[in-house]
Amino acid sequence: MSDPLPFEQPLVPERPTAAPTPEVVLGPTGRPMPVIPEPKPLTEHGNGRVIAMCNQKGGVGKTTTTINLGAALAEYGRKVLLVDFDPQGSLSVGLGLNPHEMDFTVYNLLMERDVHVDDVIVPTNVPGMDLLPSNIDLSAAEVQLVHEVAREQTLARVLGPAVKNYDVVLIDCQPSLGLLTVNALTAADGVIVPLECEYFALRGVALLKTTIDKVQERLNPRLEVDGVLGTMFDGRTLHGREVMERLVQAWGDKVFHTVIRRTVKFSDSTVAGEPITSYASSSNGAEAYRQLAREVLARCLDG
Ligand SMILES: Nc1ncnc2c1ncn2[C@@H]1O[C@H](COP(=O)(O)OP(=O)(O)OP(=O)(O)O)[C@@H](O)[C@H]1O
Ligand SMILES: [Mg+2]
Repeated sequence: MSDPLPFEQPLVPERPTAAPTPEVVLGPTGRPMPVIPEPKPLTEHGNGRVIAMCNQKGGVGKTTTTINLGAALAEYGRKVLLVDFDPQGSLSVGLGLNPHEMDFTVYNLLMERDVHVDDVIVPTNVPGMDLLPSNIDLSAAEVQLVHEVAREQTLARVLGPAVKNYDVVLIDCQPSLGLLTVNALTAADGVIVPLECEYFALRGVALLKTTIDKVQERLNPRLEVDGVLGTMFDGRTLHGREVMERLVQAWGDKVFHTVIRRTVKFSDSTVAGEPITSYASSSNGAEAYRQLAREVLARCLDG
């Protein structure tokens, strides 16, 4: 028999044989949202990773991220040390300390040879999270350190003995790329760059990257960018989504899938001197920092 003519072919459309692909869920960064695993419980503590929270632009969420990421990591059973490395002392105040009532601060640790890191560490109200506090005295260190031998390595030297006791050390940097920040980058294994999701946030990032590269080349070969965190995000505006898109174009996979949305709860919790994870434990902000903690653990701590 000859081949059937085309119009003799059955008109029933072919059934798809492959199973339908599950719908890809896009996260707030515009990329598919991965499943972020639950952190593994630790059997032993110590010899942790030192991470500097760094951006020379002011008010982008460095201090808020240091407090709340630290508190969320402590909730997951990690031993956390926070280092207030900003003479504004916002991290210390944000954890309820009075700047005029500190026996020792990071300033004493940097400048006085007989002060040991254990003399300066204070516990916080968050179980498992300690603090090296600072106040305005630290501004003098920036000037005095200029005359020190190995001035860029001063923080690394004095912090070293404490790192073995913690799973993670977070350093809250000041909004500048001066000598204090270079000290923080020299003491760190990784950097997290918080970036406010607004247009001008992207300016100055190239300079920050150059500084990180120079420190990596000249002072601290192990330094890596652990991640870029979009903060104060407003997904309802086109502007917010566009900035996020540009961030992903510029930094690729370095951009955390977690983004921190804009909410007044953060200022409220600072006034209360508490992390948002305890001040408003079930709020979206607290959940976002818990998700960030899981992402940081999966990306650079538990691996
Ligand atoms: N996601 C957010 N939504 C709304 N407000 C926020 C958010 N994150 C931080 N803030 C508020 O923005 C202000 C600046 O935040 P923060 O102090 O963390 O920034 P910073 O980068 O440490 O600033 P600085 O450069 O001065 O040290 C604070 O009042 C804080 O409460
Ligand atoms: Mg700050």
